[in-house]
Amino acid sequence: MYDVVVVGAGCAGMRAAIEAYDTGASVGVVSKLHPTRSHSGAAEGGINAALGNTAEDSPEKHAFDTVKGSDYLGDQDAIEIFTAEAPGDIYQLEHWGCVFSRNEEGKLAQRPFGAAGSPRTVYSADITGHVLVHVLYEQLMKRMEEGSLVVHEESFAWRLMVEDGRCVGVVCWDLVRGGVKLVTGRSVVLATGGMGRIYRATTNAYSCNGDGMAMALHAGLPLKDMEFMQFHPTTLYPSGVLITEGCRGEGGYLLNRDGERFMARYAPNALELASRDVVSRAETTEIEAGRGINGSVLLDLRHLGAEKILTRLPGSRELAMTFAGVDPIYDPIPVRPGAHYMMGGVATDNWGATELEGLYAAGEVACVSVHGANRLGGNSLMETITFGRRAGRAAAEHALASGRRGEVSDAPARDAERDLAQLLSRTDGERPWKIRDELGASMLENFGVFRYPDRMERQLELIQELRERYRNVVVEDKGEIFNTDLTQALELGYMLDLAWCMVQAGLAREESRGAHSRPADFPERDDERFLKHSISRWGDDGPELSYEEVRMTRWQPEVRTY
Ligand code: FUM
Repeated sequence: MYDVVVVGAGCAGMRAAIEAYDTGASVGVVSKLHPTRSHSGAAEGGINAALGNTAEDSPEKHAFDTVKGSDYLGDQDAIEIFTAEAPGDIYQLEHWGCVFSRNEEGKLAQRPFGAAGSPRTVYSADITGHVLVHVLYEQLMKRMEEGSLVVHEESFAWRLMVEDGRCVGVVCWDLVRGGVKLVTGRSVVLATGGMGRIYRATTNAYSCNGDGMAMALHAGLPLKDMEFMQFHPTTLYPSGVLITEGCRGEGGYLLNRDGERFMARYAPNALELASRDVVSRAETTEIEAGRGINGSVLLDLRHLGAEKILTRLPGSRELAMTFAGVDPIYDPIPVRPGAHYMMGGVATDNWGATELEGLYAAGEVACVSVHGANRLGGNSLMETITFGRRAGRAAAEHALASGRRGEVSDAPARDAERDLAQLLSRTDGERPWKIRDELGASMLENFGVFRYPDRMERQLELIQELRERYRNVVVEDKGEIFNTDLTQALELGYMLDLAWCMVQAGLAREESRGAHSRPADFPERDDERFLKHSISRWGDDGPELSYEEVRMTRWQPEVRTY
């Protein structure tokens, strides 16, 4: 038994593991991927901290921008901690070896990002996530060599182990060798990332299926604000690959088919650098009004010039050339909104602690809530670091203080083996990919940038139909080694349950706030009824919804314009 088990090895998981180890705990990291292949590596444009290197800035300004960006649904105490601790975390990353881009004075460069009152986004060209993941992995390896930090990579964590009201580990499927294995700990940190793959058009990697959220949900834990899926305004058409907000931060324009910079009509001050919910709605409106081009709008970088594109945005150029056949030095890039980030997740306190003793969560799987109804670009990488660190520390302190005995029951392994044997013994039925495709397409259609009551109702019905069909899903690969057919079937069950939580919470939220927009029936924000977090818990008949107060410190809701 480890002191701390960290599930997931992206930025949040690795940061939590490092902190837990440095606090004196033995640490087991469980990841379904090799750590450097985690989806955090796909983050591009940067990480936010009020360093004030380009223009005057402060943690208070960062906090206000985040509160306003969240459409006042973010918990303000968490946001204040976040923005106050972010600068120290950035300097630590830099001391660990992160090669951040520099400005002419030799300080860490900071670029403007959407809805930020000051250029605040620290970056490494446009491969910031890649750089962070590699530096964190170096730090992990250093501790692995010392002995009491072990990475169980290619292990698919599938269920939480709960004993005597405490979380004591995870049940995993060993992807390399096959078979069920238990990884046990005195504390567990969930850092499994997001769930964008629930949508057909997404920036997210194939691994982002909401495993951690679903594990927590089925262990009786509350998920918070699940109706708030962020659509990133610039995903490459048609592949959905992320084209960083940094392109607009560096001065890129959004154009419709008439060559008009249409953001002037939607956000006259911030233009392309309005918040993501605003820009995604503007693009969708243009496309639906027939002013798009094949379901996309254009991101024009040509006026930035080759040198800027080659030095600041080389990755975006590569992506555009490889996946859309367009060189942005010479031609605009076709982009459209795509599912990018789940603002909701496992409800935690400001140290990542969940309602279940011994269970912590950090990063996209968690909802602290720093992002509320709409996250600011660059705040998620920062959240992985700041709250990964806090969760790692709290989990380690809990483990070291618990004095818990080493043995736990192996009954969860036998239960899992029985359930998997049953699934694998089925020879007739439907293939998971078909249900998954229908889920992704229908979520995009019925629970996308704009939400309409009839479509949401239809989506709820469809989810029930898909869940019914899922009961007969058949896994054709009966083998042990790298049986991704099996793990995808398991993930699909999770995705269907999470989709149910999302749409149920969306239907019940009769207002428009941040990423949840109901233009036909409830076009305005309604603070009187809905300045509240939604809470979804799994009951006997599916998710049950309740509400919780938003924690306010100093900012009262105001009209939100950009
Ligand atoms: O556009 C981007 O580079 C994405 C950043 C983020 O989601 O924070």
